[in-house]
Amino acid sequence: MQQKPIPYRRTVFVCANVREGKIACANPGRGGDEICRALKEAVKAAGLNGSIRVVRSGCLDRCGEGPNVFVYPEGRWYCGVRIEDVSALAQEILKLD
Ligand code: FES
Repeated sequence: MQQKPIPYRRTVFVCANVREGKIACANPGRGGDEICRALKEAVKAAGLNGSIRVVRSGCLDRCGEGPNVFVYPEGRWYCGVRIEDVSALAQEILKLD
């Protein structure tokens, strides 16, 4: 095993968890998966996919508040994200300091 520097300046975790019979961020009609795809496309379109990594995550344990998006290392947490929010959210996520 080797330890290396983190290869991305920012990682965006988008809950894409699906659960039958229980509330989950990417259940049909909730949008977690679409939000993840749209954020990935926004990062790629901005040419920042070498610096910002958008990943599908498993359950972040805030299912009722979802879809949830967590931004590392800033520690920003977005809940109740809708596909209509992606443009504004992407603008925030794309800002590198
Ligand atoms: S399913 Fe997304 S936080 Fe649990």
